[in-house]
Amino acid sequence: MNLYAFQLGRQKELCLAELKTLLGAQNLVEKNNDIAIFQLEKADQKLQDDLGGTIKIMEVFDKTTKENVEKSLEKHLLQEFEGWSGKIQFALNMFGLKKEFRSKPLLNNCKRVLKSLGLNCRFVNNSDKNPQPSTIFKARVLQKGIDINLIKCDSGIYLAQTISIQNIDDYSLRDYNKPKRDAKVGMTPPKLAQIMINLAGPAKTIYDPFCGTGTYLMEIMLMGKTALGSDIERKMVEYTEQNCAWLIQKFPMKYQKHYIFKADARLIEKQFLPQIEIDAIVTESYLGEPQTKEPTPEKRETIFRELANLHLNWLAKCHPLLPKNGKIVMCLTAFRDGKTIHHFPNFNQLAETAGYKIKQSFSYSREDQIVIRDIIVLEKI
Ligand SMILES: C[S@@+](CC[C@H](N)C(=O)[O-])C[C@H]1O[C@@H](n2cnc3c(N)ncnc32)[C@H](O)[C@@H]1O
Repeated sequence: MNLYAFQLGRQKELCLAELKTLLGAQNLVEKNNDIAIFQLEKADQKLQDDLGGTIKIMEVFDKTTKENVEKSLEKHLLQEFEGWSGKIQFALNMFGLKKEFRSKPLLNNCKRVLKSLGLNCRFVNNSDKNPQPSTIFKARVLQKGIDINLIKCDSGIYLAQTISIQNIDDYSLRDYNKPKRDAKVGMTPPKLAQIMINLAGPAKTIYDPFCGTGTYLMEIMLMGKTALGSDIERKMVEYTEQNCAWLIQKFPMKYQKHYIFKADARLIEKQFLPQIEIDAIVTESYLGEPQTKEPTPEKRETIFRELANLHLNWLAKCHPLLPKNGKIVMCLTAFRDGKTIHHFPNFNQLAETAGYKIKQSFSYSREDQIVIRDIIVLEKI
């Protein structure tokens, strides 16, 4: 077993939950605010590409004390760059260590070591702060040099080398350059879609009954799973079809089974679906009208009431489609009102009436959003 460190994305709790579901909670060794360390046989680019909530994956090469960090780094660099020549890109990141070290002296020491091998290095760091992951990605540090990470946890300081980083170009291609977009329907960010798909566990066939422009279907297919999607609007069914066809062209993949059809999720029946067993449902159903200002308590109540009706109906109708203990991972509307968040009232009860229990719930939001998403994992009872 090797140790790998995963840098968590913005919504830390949700990102950690994704990792625990995918890699097994029992394999979590240690964590700090930004990083989770897992023991695994192997981590690679495919794992990185499937994770919506991990910024980068690092392979641990040592765990040591503050006093021995420099020596350990020196040893690793000498091993890693023996036989290299020319100029390399070098980035240094510290997690949970701001007080113990300043990056400048450490960087200078690394420069000296690399120079002893006849190498020049260009530092990606230009202050005591960690370089932005996007800078590391754009400068191709992983291909042209090394990205080193010092991670302080309770048991010591881990030293780790980055082996993969989120491909921000691919995400923005899928998010902004797919042929059919519709800001009015409230498209799901691809990274959130990936996290939610992973929260469904080892499901092979996943259904999105509110497919919109097809974000979930695209991410499901990229993970090598079978995707089913439906929408009440003919236009959205066509958008999903076109986006999936575009995806297959842009991101060649071995497995591309997907089914798209028009249906009202409140009336869904097994016979409307292709002859195929569904393992899980992952979806962002209607969140309510977009809001330009915080809704009044009365307005909020009306929105919640209307949505409760929709949720009760579709959840009940989808119940027979799922296997025993089958999962639904869904977005639920909540509202931000200054510092207060108004969550969907009595959803626990609603879910139970429809035949589910809530297994997990998380908030997913940005400071500037009024309508926000809670991410709920339901299990069929
Ligand atoms: C929030 S959008 C889904 C966005 C989608 N995840 C994406 O990234 O494009 C909700 C979708 O649900 C559809 N919808 C609303 N009510 C529906 C219903 N009763 N049955 C099926 N689809 C419905 C809407 O047409 C809309 O496309």
